[in-house]
Amino acid sequence: MTVMKNTNRNLLLLAAALFLCFTTVEAQEVTLKITKRYLNLPVSHQVDRAEMTFRADGKQERAFQIRLAPDTPDYWVFCDMSTLKNKEITISYQGNQAGLNRIYQADEIAGQDSIYKEKNRPQFHYTQKRGWNNDPNGLIYYEGEYHLFYQHNPYEREWENMHWGHAVSKDLIHWEELPVALYPDEHGTMFSGSAVIDYNNTSGFGKKGVPPMVAIYTADNPEKQIQCIAYSLDKGRTWTKYAGNPVIDSKAKWNSKDTRDPKVFWHQPSNKWVLVLNERDGHSIYNSDNLKDWTYQSHVTGFWECPDLFELPVDGKKDNTKWVMYGASGTYMIGDFDGKTFRPEAGKYYYTTGSIYAAQTFANIPESDGRRIQIGWGRISHPGLPVNGMMLFPTELSLRTTKEGIRLFSQPVKEIEMLQKEAGKWSNLTAGKANELLQPYNQAGSLRIRTTIKLSHATSAGFNLFGQFLLDYDMNGNRVNGVFYSPEERTSMEITADILLDRTSVEVYIDGGAYSYSMERRPDPNNKEGFHFWGTNIEVKSLEVYTLDSIWK
Ligand code: FRU
Repeated sequence: MTVMKNTNRNLLLLAAALFLCFTTVEAQEVTLKITKRYLNLPVSHQVDRAEMTFRADGKQERAFQIRLAPDTPDYWVFCDMSTLKNKEITISYQGNQAGLNRIYQADEIAGQDSIYKEKNRPQFHYTQKRGWNNDPNGLIYYEGEYHLFYQHNPYEREWENMHWGHAVSKDLIHWEELPVALYPDEHGTMFSGSAVIDYNNTSGFGKKGVPPMVAIYTADNPEKQIQCIAYSLDKGRTWTKYAGNPVIDSKAKWNSKDTRDPKVFWHQPSNKWVLVLNERDGHSIYNSDNLKDWTYQSHVTGFWECPDLFELPVDGKKDNTKWVMYGASGTYMIGDFDGKTFRPEAGKYYYTTGSIYAAQTFANIPESDGRRIQIGWGRISHPGLPVNGMMLFPTELSLRTTKEGIRLFSQPVKEIEMLQKEAGKWSNLTAGKANELLQPYNQAGSLRIRTTIKLSHATSAGFNLFGQFLLDYDMNGNRVNGVFYSPEERTSMEITADILLDRTSVEVYIDGGAYSYSMERRPDPNNKEGFHFWGTNIEVKSLEVYTLDSIWK
């Protein structure tokens, strides 16, 4: 199974609408009083999706698509009912009715005891308990907590029903899943976006002493994608949608449905909010005084989905900064920004490839920390788990001067050290000796391996795990795992890799973060080699192995 999104949703909706015209589907209903925290719902991929709604006090509270299992489910999903406790709700379903009677209430989710301990559950990366995730959204640090919102389908392990899932962490490492933050509404499903703290209460959403956390997101409906806002006064736990939504509706201007993924930040020099929005063929800049009224300013072509734009010191020097703009794919431009227009000077380059997509950087990181911290979506599947996708390990971004000019680097955040225990550290080994030393770790679920290899007789060399290329360096062709890579030292015969291995994923940072890539961990079941350095007469100049603790207690 690979992680793919359904982009043919409109066609499906049309087909479903036609089907409904010619058949009569009687929705069946059950009514129950909510006395427990969760509803557990059985899912089967043998049946088609159909709409389920919850009504309470004559009002529709939830509406989503689900493949309700009529008999043995593939797995169970859950719905947090806290906000509807003690209410009588009517559940109606357009699909096969047998499953309706199997829905049950409990204070635990089905499978609670095995959560995070399942085979193939990532151990030091965030995954949701159930369902699908894609892009990280609304990444923000506030009052001691890192917030990770994300594109989420709570009802299936495939893309559909976009909600904003929510998790918090005190240290960027250990995450706690919280209830869904944003549910689909009359404007559409909840697509990607960002969050800010409105310290000056420019929006008027705040109350005395409590600045609002404001989420700016795209609502997607069959007709268009519009930008909306919502606010929270309780650290992101509960949200109120702005009655004046949408705040931007630009479909007509671009003659395109593709207008989405707002990233907002406060621009001090111009005293304005800045919103970067992917519109049709690139990223647009909008300005606002209050997060509600936005004025279009400019557009840079050449990017697709999930914009980010931020200022970074070059080589750590605060008096010499540049701006970085990127899109979902990980290609970026470097340039200047005056609050209204981004002027690219260099790029597009890439700094990362592979499973990563739609990475976003955190807002509101304290000045005393000063880092630009990023989390990317890992398009990684976990065989056998009722979960798809994961958050890649958080990284720190920096701009560094290289012989080719200024480039973006990314490295795992230093917090990784709280998980790691040194298992061995060696230098100047032959490949054979290194392979022997690594055998005890062949089956380890979570590992960090840092190594530098030196070529002298070989034009290519690398490092495998059960036949999978963790590092495949083609020195002659200037390629690392098939992608062009030219080392800073042109005549260098060395390459360094910092490798993070979780149960289902691999992340590799080359030469101090000059380039990185990520992929699914897929050992060849017929390969017996385990860890294996290869390449004629290579030298393993250094080798460090760390075991990594699980982030799940
Ligand atoms: C990127 C993306 C966004 C969109 C979201 C929908 O992966 O396509 O552009 O907002 O996913 O889930």
